[in-house]
Amino acid sequence: MVTKVADKWRSSGTQAVDVLVIDDEESFSEGCRQTLEMGGYRAAVARDGRHGLQFMEQALPRVVLVDLKMPGISGLEVLGRIPKIDATTVPIIVTGHGTVDSAVESMKIGAFDFLTKPFEPEKLLETVRRGMDLSQLRKEAKAHAEAPPAPEPAEVAPADRHDVLLKGLGVLGECYSLGVEKRQLLEELAYLEAEAKYHAQQLGQVKRKEKAILEIRDDLRAADEIFEKHAFKKSTLIQILLDVQTRFNWLPRHVLRWLSSRLNVPLVDIYTLANFYEAFSLEPRGAHTIQVCMGTACHVRGAPQLLARVSAMLGIKPGETDAKQRYTLETVHCMGCCALSPVMMVDGDYFSNPSLKQIERIIADKKTN
Ligand code: FES
Repeated sequence: MVTKVADKWRSSGTQAVDVLVIDDEESFSEGCRQTLEMGGYRAAVARDGRHGLQFMEQALPRVVLVDLKMPGISGLEVLGRIPKIDATTVPIIVTGHGTVDSAVESMKIGAFDFLTKPFEPEKLLETVRRGMDLSQLRKEAKAHAEAPPAPEPAEVAPADRHDVLLKGLGVLGECYSLGVEKRQLLEELAYLEAEAKYHAQQLGQVKRKEKAILEIRDDLRAADEIFEKHAFKKSTLIQILLDVQTRFNWLPRHVLRWLSSRLNVPLVDIYTLANFYEAFSLEPRGAHTIQVCMGTACHVRGAPQLLARVSAMLGIKPGETDAKQRYTLETVHCMGCCALSPVMMVDGDYFSNPSLKQIERIIADKKTN
């Protein structure tokens, strides 16, 4: 049965509910509702999982408190279904049977936090406040991910085609003087154009053809400066790769192929080195690396919530890099400082159990660096 509150909500046509409490224990759920309303939230109550899920589909609450043990659909099952209704809703488990196992299991399914009954009203309000913050971040990240890419300004002023023809004639003349045939030149240009398209796709970006081509031209020029610094010597291959890694934060394919051609080194040798050393990345990486420890100690002490916050704030999942190549988010298994758990590391600096505000500050600092 959905309670009077939900019925009142439905008959009044009101659409907005901040917090839904799904719990079969009347005195407890009503107590939560009253506390939440005194705390300024619009709250509603459902007495079992089935009605709670139905209610959610209509009201889309930002935070849902779910009892673990209920008749019918269990709290864990409700938890698993919430993201399918609205992935920005933040579930919080409430139970009178709190154990580490049930906490870990509910966190794995997506619970943001775990409250053991009985708890103080302040504790409830504080947990819900954090849940509301996370829901807001998720909404913003979702809106950002769904927004159409901003149109990119054309980088080249459309020169008069006669000017371009004259430049082309000059290039053709240079080619002939180097003994390069026009067909060969066109084939190599077509190959580089395909590399530009591949590169943009690898970065997950949609770019105008001319912009993508000019960008890889600039990359190849920057790579040439590195090769030149090492006098184009094959014996300095590792050092060159390290410099390329530092310059681009990863080893883009077009740069490796350029290197192979420039130094006359088989591409397979370059890839063997790149795969062998951990210092090299063949995937795009952000300028800043954020790692969240998911080892056992950190997991039990809140790492899933920490990861969810960071992930929502950056708008990327673990293992991903944002479209602007600013951040790479990773999970690791134990950083060897379990006493500080849950732990996050940003560009080599450790942060122990950072609050939402601290995470915001850390990320904002990195944005400006
Ligand atoms: S489990 Fe996270 S530091 Fe050990």
